Amino acid sequence: MKKKSSILLTGGSGQLGQAVQRSNLFPNLLAPPKQELDLADFKNVRGYFNAHKISTVIHCAALARISLCETDPIKAIDTNVIGTANLVKAVSQQQKAAGHEIRFLHMSTDGVYPGLKGKYKENGPTVPYNNYGWTKLASECLVRLLADHCIIRTNFFDPDHIKFGTSATDIFTSKLSLEDLVKSIKFLLNHRFVGAVNVGGERLSDYRRYKQYKPQMKSCTRKEILKTIPFQIYSDASLDTTLWRKLKRQGSVR
Ligand SMILES: NC(=O)c1ccc[n+]([C@@H]2O[C@H](COP(=O)([O-])OP(=O)(O)OC[C@H]3O[C@@H](n4cnc5c(N)ncnc54)[C@H](OP(=O)(O)O)[C@@H]3O)[C@@H](O)[C@H]2O)c1
Repeated sequence: MKKKSSILLTGGSGQLGQAVQRSNLFPNLLAPPKQELDLADFKNVRGYFNAHKISTVIHCAALARISLCETDPIKAIDTNVIGTANLVKAVSQQQKAAGHEIRFLHMSTDGVYPGLKGKYKENGPTVPYNNYGWTKLASECLVRLLADHCIIRTNFFDPDHIKFGTSATDIFTSKLSLEDLVKSIKFLLNHRFVGAVNVGGERLSDYRRYKQYKPQMKSCTRKEILKTIPFQIYSDASLDTTLWRKLKRQGSVR
């Protein structure tokens, strides 16, 4: 029997991966748990691709916790760099065997930029300020070896689950809601765009953004947050989204 062609979602048990699945925007979605598809193990990844017909990859798996990337850089390398390398290798082999390209959507981060002045453009300097950002930048480099790739540089939050009660008035981002990000992933899956694109919303301070959804939110400063954490964080990681807005005006073209 002919195998049905599917979208492979990595990191399906994660925050974004769960939202992708909940959305029901992606038919024929395969979302194997780590026990079934461990990206750190190339033999496992290759076996998975041999057993399935994959037309598209949405790569959400990562070591995405900044503090963990600082305390366990080896795990950050294994997951973010080697995990992505294994996936890119398996996709390359599969493409060669099948004779057609696989669309590859890679979730990256605003953390590949310096995080100081904001309004970062895709073709500007990428100088991360922590292990997480460096390993995500390394993963971007690998993904660029695939002909049909799209790198989404973003940051997001879940308006329904804002855990903390205090946020900074002097930390700025272009964070998107999870729901908007999932719609953006769908849009870019169907677009011919190849390269890196900043996907974000309005430039706002964390405090102003979160207060809209959690009225009891209290304000603090970045300096106060830095006293409580052993790693560096951005002051202004906002994105220039000119390219993203242009792609949206063009509409889906695949
Ligand atoms: N969270 C943010 O604010 C944010 C901002 C910008 C960009 N991003 C990017 O967006 C993506 C999704 O982030 P997230 O917050 O949803 O992450 P998350 O909740 O931490 O989930 C990470 C996912 O990766 C999986 N994973 C880890 N190691 C793996 C391995 N060796 N093989 C297969 N799967 C593995 C995890 O599986 P287990 O649960 O089984 O470990 C989990 O499903 C990431 O690429 C992240 O860098 C996140």
